[in-house]
Amino acid sequence: MATVLAGQTALITGAARGIGAACAVELARAGAARVVLCDVRASEDEVTRQTIRDVQNAGAEVLYQQADVGNRAAMEALFASAGAVDILINNAAINIRKSLLELEPDDVAPVWQVILWGTFHCSQFAARQMAASGRGGSIVMISSVHAERAFPRSTSYNGAKAAVNQMALTWAAELAPHRIRVNVIEPGWTDTPGERTFYTEEQIREEGARLPLGRLGTPAEIARAARFLVSPDASYITGAILRVDGGIVLPKAP
Ligand SMILES: NC(=O)c1ccc[n+]([C@@H]2O[C@H](COP(=O)([O-])OP(=O)(O)OC[C@H]3O[C@@H](n4cnc5c(N)ncnc54)[C@H](O)[C@@H]3O)[C@@H](O)[C@H]2O)c1
Repeated sequence: MATVLAGQTALITGAARGIGAACAVELARAGAARVVLCDVRASEDEVTRQTIRDVQNAGAEVLYQQADVGNRAAMEALFASAGAVDILINNAAINIRKSLLELEPDDVAPVWQVILWGTFHCSQFAARQMAASGRGGSIVMISSVHAERAFPRSTSYNGAKAAVNQMALTWAAELAPHRIRVNVIEPGWTDTPGERTFYTEEQIREEGARLPLGRLGTPAEIARAARFLVSPDASYITGAILRVDGGIVLPKAP
């Protein structure tokens, strides 16, 4: 398993913590030679420093870039400095949780900037590079079960994640002749630092116990699915949507 991604360069957005950080460590363990981490958090941040150490300890060279995925010029510069990228994981996202009656346009715009435009910019720069190199590549979206299920108080996030899925399928079709595979992971409720800003330990335990598998998912469980999708084991998989959600969208057993 340590050589599955031997010699490859992976770029992961929103990689300082949570699912993005877990993906970075997982791809390094699978043999990725270089892992480019992009996040709005500063590199001196203790959380970021720990992630950088974890990825290095897993065996990869790390390039860390503090940048906003919604900023096209910053992403252009990032891809230029990253060199040839074989794998892109579009993971960065934010959510502002309000109902339609409460939302202001200023709540919606930043969510769409990060999820819609961030995914667009990064995927376009990666795809152009991969197509020009002739070596193919793999792009994975960390979407959400919210792309399919209209969980309330998440208008801008739900809409953006649904759009990400549809963009991914479009790009899978367009990029297949270049041997660039594009796939989607839909995590369910996953125990990350981001989620812990919305829920207490007690809520996570009690609400988690009501889920079909009796708990939240872990970032590592999402990362293992990402590793599979970018690996040669998934060489014939493109345009797929893989739910890694512990059954959260399933009907309740009677
Ligand atoms: N945690 C869950 O329950 C869950 C469920 C479904 C989908 N997801 C998706 O998984 C992904 C990761 O979520 P998480 O829970 O690990 O989040 P998190 O908040 O713990 O981590 C997200 C990281 O993204 C970074 N980020 C935010 N805006 C950015 C920007 N503009 N540019 C670059 N980096 C930025 C943050 O600084 C942070 O380090 C997101 O796409 C999220 O929508 C999470």
